[in-house]
Amino acid sequence: MNRLKYYYEEDGFKLIHGDSFEMLKQIKSQSIDMIFADPPYFLSGDGITCHSGKMVSVKKGQWDEKIDIKAKHLFNRKWIKLCKRVLKDDGTIWISGTMHNIYSIGMALEEEGFKIINNITWKKLNPPPNISCKAFTHSTETILWAKKDLKNVKYKFNYDIMKKLNGGKQMKDVWETSLTKLKEKKYGKHPTQKPIELLERIILASTDETDLILDPFNGSGTTGIVASKLNRKYIGIEKEKTYLDLTIKRKVNDTNEKRF
Ligand SMILES: C[S@@+](CC[C@H](N)C(=O)[O-])C[C@H]1O[C@@H](n2cnc3c(N)ncnc32)[C@H](O)[C@@H]1O
Repeated sequence: MNRLKYYYEEDGFKLIHGDSFEMLKQIKSQSIDMIFADPPYFLSGDGITCHSGKMVSVKKGQWDEKIDIKAKHLFNRKWIKLCKRVLKDDGTIWISGTMHNIYSIGMALEEEGFKIINNITWKKLNPPPNISCKAFTHSTETILWAKKDLKNVKYKFNYDIMKKLNGGKQMKDVWETSLTKLKEKKYGKHPTQKPIELLERIILASTDETDLILDPFNGSGTTGIVASKLNRKYIGIEKEKTYLDLTIKRKVNDTNEKRF
């Protein structure tokens, strides 16, 4: 990892500014215990949605604009392949998506030599209404959890912790949480910021303390914030500096809150 320059580095929490397609090549192979990725869903365009009671167009950012189906699949195969190289053989990868990209992701995972362990449905307790009234209210996202398709390699699953979290009953693959809480956005907003609660469950399920977690689409750094709170090491890659600065604000304030 010597050639890599970090945008921010503190106590096992590292941020890289750049394009994941280039940066992933510079990370040491088989060095990562777990990957969480929330890649572009490619859904921004002419559509409308409801935000805080107002009708707004679906425009998350240029990185999320619709592209054709073949380009989308090529994009997914490419970054998943790069992730496979850096992931340890007993490591796992979690990828979130919606109907706009999750079928391509599932197929890309299998094409690149992964085996899907679980198909988690994240049920949003407070989804925005469907103002077009032409379809059911979209209220779920899918998170695929996968391992390398290798024989005799045991991946990490903290079954007992999940059972305890679920009040002593086996944890199911439908997870209910609210959308990202406003207080999690107090240092700035990212259009697709994931809830802390979701990442807590993912990280607790598949890693131990001091494990190294990678997020190739860092955004506002939710994965890193939770990783650091739970004593895991973190590398986040993001091409927009504004989002890295937001991540640093979240990280520094979290550390200060812990201290005082
Ligand atoms: C869906 S968002 C991730 C949000 C994140 N999970 C959070 O909780 O804030 C995807 C992020 O990936 C970044 N991105 C898109 N393509 C990228 C690339 N090729 N390399 C690095 N970052 C990229 C975008 O700028 C965006 O911030």
